Amino acid sequence: MGKRALCSCLVIAASSLHPSAAFAPSTSSLPAVKHHNGAAIPAASTRLSAGSFYDDPLLSSSANRSSNSNTASSQSSQQQGAAPLKKKDLRTLQRFLEVECWKSPSIRNLDRTLLGVSDACKQINRIVQRAQTDDLYGAAVDPVTGQQVDENVQGEVQQQLDVLCNTLMLRAFCGASNNAICAVASEEEPLPRSCADVMGYDMFSTAGEYVAVFDPIDGSKNIDSSLPVGTVFGIYKSPEGVKRGDEGYSLDSFLQRGTKMVAAGYCLYSATTVLVLTLGSGVHGFTLDPDKQTFLQTHPNMRIPDVGCLYSFNEANSREFTEPVQQYLEKMKESGKIGGKKVSSRYVGALVADVHNILINGGIYGYPSTRDNPNGKLRLLYESAPMAMIMEQAGGAGSTGHGRILDVLPRAIHERVPTFLGSVENVFELDQFHKYYGEDDDDDDE
Ligand code: F6P
Ligand code: MN
Repeated sequence: MGKRALCSCLVIAASSLHPSAAFAPSTSSLPAVKHHNGAAIPAASTRLSAGSFYDDPLLSSSANRSSNSNTASSQSSQQQGAAPLKKKDLRTLQRFLEVECWKSPSIRNLDRTLLGVSDACKQINRIVQRAQTDDLYGAAVDPVTGQQVDENVQGEVQQQLDVLCNTLMLRAFCGASNNAICAVASEEEPLPRSCADVMGYDMFSTAGEYVAVFDPIDGSKNIDSSLPVGTVFGIYKSPEGVKRGDEGYSLDSFLQRGTKMVAAGYCLYSATTVLVLTLGSGVHGFTLDPDKQTFLQTHPNMRIPDVGCLYSFNEANSREFTEPVQQYLEKMKESGKIGGKKVSSRYVGALVADVHNILINGGIYGYPSTRDNPNGKLRLLYESAPMAMIMEQAGGAGSTGHGRILDVLPRAIHERVPTFLGSVENVFELDQFHKYYGEDDDDDDE
């Protein structure tokens, strides 16, 4: 039996098992199952019958649950009757870091590093703002030879902006006075580098316990058209007893599962500049005050809605997506509504901007496998894993379609991985489509 036929049988079987489940199951009739990130959600079998998931009033009510129905707890605190915070009451990032890093031994030494990273983000913000007016535009040129510099490891011609922002992030992680970081890996560089190498001086972090990974300027093509761009980063503790090679670092410190990350964050340079950070206990958002150049905690304890009506995929590639992803998107569009709201598509083309939109409003972001990019386009270390940690910490999920992104053990620092991020119900549903439709359909379909 072909997979399509098998699938329709499963759908029919599911709906015949749960005739009433198709549209209005009661909460108690749904057996609870655990999502791969540990969140309890209703069993999918009750939702795979046509229309049952997307029109399910249970999900509308879940979308309305006060804890997760809105963006940030600044909003949820308003729902709970607390007065919104006045500007003078907003905590600065510096204070937040001092308190949070002091509270948690595993990150105690990272406050100055993260403050340095936030300063680099402010500088990148200014550079992005000045890209069109100052001499920061165009391909990077070697200052000695005057020749255009080589392509980066991704095969892209490096732009002046890429080089500048990469340098700022390298120095932010390596140059902090606490010497917490011993080595860094950047999307712009072919290999990791020790901080002694970055700073040109052995004193810098020969003893640091952590390594950092980052994408200094994500979506940089957007700058041409004044659209949003971002910076993404993650920090890992080096494993116990790891031996550093002559380069001053061990590759094993970088090739760790995302579950080992101690901190992750991104900065979005858009209508406002927002730094979103997790230190392993919730997600917090800080908006840059453009006059004072201070990050203020405008979004404490951010929670992604459990289910959302937005999808964010590059649909021009849809004919190259795998069958589970194609089916999922078709079903979503057919249904018209999710959680009581009209299904809508949003795609900026910069991961940070698209994921931030999903975090705030709920739904799903995806960069699946395509013909050109069989593992998708996003890099596990610099993009997918930090974003997955943020999503999970905000009550959402990050999946490859077959399992949790944070469980993937990288084999190479520039490895790519199919990436789906967003509301727990949406991502779980897509995983169910992968289970039912399988992955080898490309072979027997065409
Ligand atoms: O870093 C990769 C990236 O620039 C992401 O920021 C963005 O989401 C994606 O590529 C856009 O790719 P495409 O143009 O193929 O949709
Ligand atoms: Mn990127």
